[in-house]
Amino acid sequence: MIKNGRIVTAVDDYHADILIEDGKISTIAKSLDIAADKVIDAEDKLVIPGGIDAHTHMDMPFGGTVSADDFETGTRAAAHGGTTTIIDFAIQSKGQEIREALDIWHKKADGKTAIDYSFHMIVTDLPREKLGEMKKLIHNEGVTSFKLFMAYPGVLLSDDATIYRAMCTAGEEGGLVCMHAENGIVINEIIERALAEGKREPKFHALTRPTKAEAEGVNRAIALAEMAESPVYIVHLSCHDALKKVQEARDYGVPAFAETCPQYLFLDHTFYEKPEFEGAKYVMTPPLRDKANQKELWNGLRMNDLQVISTDHCPFCFKEQKELGRDDFSKIPNGGPGVEDRMSLVFNGGVVEGRISLNRFVELTSTNAAKIFGLFPRKGTIAVGSDADIVIFDPEKKKTISADTHHMNVDYSCYEGFEVQGVTETVLSRGKVIIEQGKYVGKAGDGSFVKRSRIDLSTGSPRPFGKEALLVTR
Ligand code: URP
Ligand code: ZN
Ligand code: ZN
Repeated sequence: MIKNGRIVTAVDDYHADILIEDGKISTIAKSLDIAADKVIDAEDKLVIPGGIDAHTHMDMPFGGTVSADDFETGTRAAAHGGTTTIIDFAIQSKGQEIREALDIWHKKADGKTAIDYSFHMIVTDLPREKLGEMKKLIHNEGVTSFKLFMAYPGVLLSDDATIYRAMCTAGEEGGLVCMHAENGIVINEIIERALAEGKREPKFHALTRPTKAEAEGVNRAIALAEMAESPVYIVHLSCHDALKKVQEARDYGVPAFAETCPQYLFLDHTFYEKPEFEGAKYVMTPPLRDKANQKELWNGLRMNDLQVISTDHCPFCFKEQKELGRDDFSKIPNGGPGVEDRMSLVFNGGVVEGRISLNRFVELTSTNAAKIFGLFPRKGTIAVGSDADIVIFDPEKKKTISADTHHMNVDYSCYEGFEVQGVTETVLSRGKVIIEQGKYVGKAGDGSFVKRSRIDLSTGSPRPFGKEALLVTR
């Protein structure tokens, strides 16, 4: 039982007690006078739905190395930060059966995680003959979203026909295409030119990936989705140029959805100027942008043109991994850590600094991801019958973010020295306390794979797409 807390969901804000039975919330009442095995006092604390990070890469091969957090270390760190579900990415390599890729990722995660998890499928090879496999994932495996890339030619990039094909199938079958929207073909040209001119330092990662390349990708992704009559979800949107394309589409009633990430809200391209190759710590894709973009992204979050804040957690150690690109920025493994810091950063930058309401904070860090990706109302809210994935959050407590104290398996923090107000104190995953007063008390294997629901266009629930959805989502 959780007593005396202030329960905040995407829509509610009230004081009440919560009784948990068999991992689910069984009763919520003003004052519960029932004996419980364990009573947690949440006086003066917020009681919020566990965070859902819809974009992580644990144990992911990339650029000749593997991301530094595996499913054990990464989900433990996520739990410390108040995240109780991640949606990670399984990757189909070229020529591979999609099912085989899913099995590989199940093996990586099974029995290892501290919190619940699900998978999107990164598709790199989708001839018409393989559309049946995509359908099987949606209908039988609880994998209802698919990431396709317009970037990384020769490795991950899909051509427009493939993207259109995937979107048609997703739209028809109740799936969703998540788009890495950057014109990778043009970007490659710009990179080749930069390298030929001897431009090799980390800052050229940003300078060779212009905002227009992202905006063009977003524009094309939305146009393809319109032709395919399917919704689309833009991942890791980083800049105003790209946001404008989403805003324009939504103004015309197109079901285009998008996430941004803390790095684009709190960091900017000047970080690439750090001496001693330290700019490599911030080599991620899309890159950090000019600071002026941050205000626009917050506007997008406020106005619901952006619905989700995920992390794109993809850590590589500075010492041995980022080093791979010491003489050539294009060889620096792309990605940065953040799964542990998201809730505190967004609470501090959003709620404490007056940019978004407390309810919107919950919506952006949990509820909307649950709704968009077919987890709601099992996850993403505090309601009778929902999983007891609950965070007891101290809204007054302050902490300084540092690699010395974080739990991610990476030797630096993108937010080193940032002081934040709002700290995760206690975390329950399906009713089990896994973080108690900041200490991890769970074990590997506490978390389970969660099958996600399909999009239900006919009822608008749990994912309200289609024309009538506009009333709901905007
Ligand atoms: O730099 C990034 N974002 N690395 C992870 C791969 C991706 O594109 O999300
Ligand atoms: Zn991406
Ligand atoms: Zn990513």
